[in-house]
Amino acid sequence: MCGIIGYIGEENAKSILINGLKKLEYRGYDSAGISVVNNKSLITLRKKGRISELEKCEDINDLEGNRGIAHTRWATHGAPNELNAHPHVDCSGKISVVHNGIIENHSALKKVLEQEGHKIKSDTDSEIIVHLIEKFYSGSLEDAMAKTVKCLTGAFGIAAIHSDEDNIVIAKKGSPLVIGISNKGMFVASDVAAILDYTKKVIYLNDNELAVIMKDHYVVSDINGEQVDKIVDEITWSVQEIEKGGFDHFMLKEIYDQPKALENCLRGRVKDGKIKLSIDFPPNDIERIVIVACGTSWHAALVGKYLLENITNIPVEVDYASEFRYRNPLVNERDVVIVISQSGETADSLAAIKEAKKKGAKTIGIVNVVGSTITREVDSGIYIHAGPEIGVASTKAFTCQIVALALLGLYLKQERGLSVDQKIIEALYELPEKSKKILESSKEIEMIAKEFVNSKNFLFLGRGINFPTALEGALKLKEISYIHAEGYPAAEMKHGPIALIDEEMPVFFVATDSENFKKIVGNMEEVKTRGGKIITLTDQKDDTVESLSEHVIYVPKTIEILSPILNTIPTQLFAYHVSNLMGLDVDKPRNLAKSVTVE
Ligand code: AGP
Repeated sequence: MCGIIGYIGEENAKSILINGLKKLEYRGYDSAGISVVNNKSLITLRKKGRISELEKCEDINDLEGNRGIAHTRWATHGAPNELNAHPHVDCSGKISVVHNGIIENHSALKKVLEQEGHKIKSDTDSEIIVHLIEKFYSGSLEDAMAKTVKCLTGAFGIAAIHSDEDNIVIAKKGSPLVIGISNKGMFVASDVAAILDYTKKVIYLNDNELAVIMKDHYVVSDINGEQVDKIVDEITWSVQEIEKGGFDHFMLKEIYDQPKALENCLRGRVKDGKIKLSIDFPPNDIERIVIVACGTSWHAALVGKYLLENITNIPVEVDYASEFRYRNPLVNERDVVIVISQSGETADSLAAIKEAKKKGAKTIGIVNVVGSTITREVDSGIYIHAGPEIGVASTKAFTCQIVALALLGLYLKQERGLSVDQKIIEALYELPEKSKKILESSKEIEMIAKEFVNSKNFLFLGRGINFPTALEGALKLKEISYIHAEGYPAAEMKHGPIALIDEEMPVFFVATDSENFKKIVGNMEEVKTRGGKIITLTDQKDDTVESLSEHVIYVPKTIEILSPILNTIPTQLFAYHVSNLMGLDVDKPRNLAKSVTVE
């Protein structure tokens, strides 16, 4: 998620804009930039890295003027560097634009603009916006913006300024934008946190609305130019609450981000039933797939084994990156090695993929952070577009990693000339709505969690593709509540772990529909007869399950190979509530770092 702030008024724009960007730092970013207009001349500065780098620019003091826009970039297309940082300026040097979102048709638009002589310098999707505005500009920035947004597909929150016009023009579709009103001028922001120091009076733009903002007034219109009357809201939140979107913790915010994150992960990747990925090697000569990762990403890799083998019929092995890197792995040019990493900086995963390359394997990265080290190491990649994940416990990255694995499987099958199962694609696109439904059960799960805050141990059991779901549920609980939790294949209990079962051993069963459903109910009976307390997560009404379980958590049905994506959400909420009820630091659990960049 990028950060946008704009200001027009009587005050010095630079200090307001820089201060506003600093309020957006919590969202995560990799570069920043600012444009200010002074006496009809536009000055723009951009820097990779922190806002403090921008402030160190020697020209920062030239930024005099009372109108400007600024931006913190969370890269989605194009590595984090000065060239790809916003604002983007047109060829005339008179128009500056900042953007938050993803423009799906940017490649097609870029081709047309370059044929018309526009010099597009960056690797971003956003830069095409300023060139479109330049193309359509004939004296009115508002008109040029209206024509521009009609060409765009995808999600955008855009703010633009022209050195010859005393206004800021904004447009919104799919990414947030608010107008801030004060007696010292008017503001624009992607997040009220950026302007709360100056005003609590805001107007929220809706999709397909534009606005022209002057020093002391604004006009909002729809995409056809019809004026729209807007209500002025009064912000009651504190800055801290806003940073977490009103949630108590980043982890809970990120759990609730999942419907949007799943949507963004799928965005632009299926067109007319065909999978669109930039994996550039012939998939016909793949004999084996090896997936390497750590922690939660390793659990996604385990789900990936079931998924990819089911879809592509290619044998898949999964290995801890930390083991693979030292095992002198037997991989070669007929193998594809996939590395999964939210941060793209995990030292073991980076070392593993370097080892794979050394052995001649083709490499693919499934990564969240654009431009991270691992993404520059692999031959091809899929960005999961989950947005910044700030809580140490990974949540939305896990579910998006599995979506990316499903898309990869379908892509490999498609590129091998085989027909792609449309049922899987339909089921993928149903996930955002179904995940929203599950989030409604958070209060119910919190009530269940209350009973287990004093537990010393926990078992998570699942079968088949939901065995990794059990592992992930156990990891979530142990890493933020410090309760010793273990995930296990349900059928393995009789080979030892069932000795652990007594009244003090709660067991969380992941028991959604599968050919082994009856067998897992049998495992529940084995636990029940030994006094174990059972929580069951399921997608179907079953009298036996209800009679065996202390609590049953229902989730919507989906196809089995995608069920870990929905099934993991209640286990994330369960772990969150247990930890929160214990009064622990959910976002920053002891001993842990968000990204393990050391061995
Ligand atoms: C997950 O909740 C943990 N924070 C941790 O296991 C994490 O998944 C692991 O360190 C891998 O990180 P990566 O995905 O950024 O490579």
